[in-house]
Amino acid sequence: MAKNFPDGFLWGGAVAANQCEGAYNEDGKGLSTQDIAPRGIMGPITEEPTEDNMKLIGIDFYHRYKEDVKLFAEMGFKTFRTSIAWSRIFPNGDDKEPNEKGLQFYDDLFDECLKYGIEPLVTISHYETPLALAKNYDGWVNRKLIGFFENYVTIIFNRYKDKVKYWLTFNEINSVLHAPYMSGGIFTDKEKLSKQDLYQAIHHELVASAKAVKIAHEINPEFKVGCMILGVPNYPLTSHPSDVLEAVKQDRENLYFADVHVRGAYPKYMDRYFKANNIKIQMEPGDEEILKNTVDFISFSYYMSSCATADEEKKKTGAGNIISGVPNPYLEASEWGWQIDPQGLRYMLNLLYDRYQKPLFIVENGLGAKDELIVDEKGNKTVIDDYRIKYLNDHLVQVGEAIEDGVEVMGYTTWGCIDLVSASTAELRKRYGFIYVDRNDDGTGTLERYKKKSFDWYKEVIATNGKSLVE
Ligand code: BG6
Repeated sequence: MAKNFPDGFLWGGAVAANQCEGAYNEDGKGLSTQDIAPRGIMGPITEEPTEDNMKLIGIDFYHRYKEDVKLFAEMGFKTFRTSIAWSRIFPNGDDKEPNEKGLQFYDDLFDECLKYGIEPLVTISHYETPLALAKNYDGWVNRKLIGFFENYVTIIFNRYKDKVKYWLTFNEINSVLHAPYMSGGIFTDKEKLSKQDLYQAIHHELVASAKAVKIAHEINPEFKVGCMILGVPNYPLTSHPSDVLEAVKQDRENLYFADVHVRGAYPKYMDRYFKANNIKIQMEPGDEEILKNTVDFISFSYYMSSCATADEEKKKTGAGNIISGVPNPYLEASEWGWQIDPQGLRYMLNLLYDRYQKPLFIVENGLGAKDELIVDEKGNKTVIDDYRIKYLNDHLVQVGEAIEDGVEVMGYTTWGCIDLVSASTAELRKRYGFIYVDRNDDGTGTLERYKKKSFDWYKEVIATNGKSLVE
């Protein structure tokens, strides 16, 4: 009986601009790093946008958002997480003036949400640095990005100060370790990128994130700003002490980002890492002071857990969400090889809460699967996605358990509440939504929307504040 979700729990769904909006060159938008990445996060990039890049049209959310927000409202969403495409506001990133049409689009989108009492939850940078910043500055390697980011956040915080209360700075900020181009707009080849430059870029992002927190609170003291971490907890593969220490080490690689955001300073253990790798972080006067602007809450994505081992022979890499480790022999995997571990979410929530005692927000969780569109007995097109219902139910039961454990959880937004283009592989056949979008990877499809079975299931979960979940 662990279903006591608190009153005011923020139930909802999440998307990112580059994976759903389309309209990649409309109304003054500049190109972003995504527009030349037709094969996803780890794939090659092209000189120019190419037609086979599914994100250029996405699910045409840019033109259909009213219909989609109406469906979210029908499910009873309390919140909707989306991101602002930086290159809609500053087409080149370093422009003097913002693009009014881009600003207007988000005004309209947020108004549409508010019309139904849906609270926007906005990611400021979700894997889509303006391409000119990547090409001309090498992205976050260059300290100048801090200033450009400052201009950007100042504009959007002022513009939406009465419409948006919840903000996230960088999506999955720790993913820059594995995907420097997509996550950090770093144009230099991953293989050629030195650790020195990578960690310097991270420093710039951390300073920029802290500056954003400061600016946000100055513009509207009611704003709540969170960091966003890619959450993949590491279990020791065996009880061998070396494996246990390896798991601690791997967790720290990710938690260091949260440590800085929450504690306002670099953790001590990074000194050893920097020394061992000959990294010298160039701090400018005032940086340490800026980092003290800590976040109001911690948000994270959770799809899977992973295992860590010190045994070189066993260090076989499993499939996974950007970060991957050794497969866990006790768990099954999704069609894309991501291991399914609902209890890992309870573990992660407890781990973060024990460490920080700050409110937590699960801003991504879900199952990417191949769906089959069928016609039901009433003649409606739908998908019988019992597998998705089971995945979400089981994870939410564990969120309930964590709440019983005493963890402060602000809300839960499922990833891809409407089908969208996948980030890692840029496919549409990897579907997460409660709403099916008729678009296929060969470019065919009407873009019509259809409710899946999970649509009514989630509506009931929200209406009962989690009481309808099945243990
Ligand atoms: C997270 C990202 O890593 O996982 C999202 O923040 C992404 O952008 C999600 O879509 C699911 O990953 P994928 O590769 O299945 O789309």
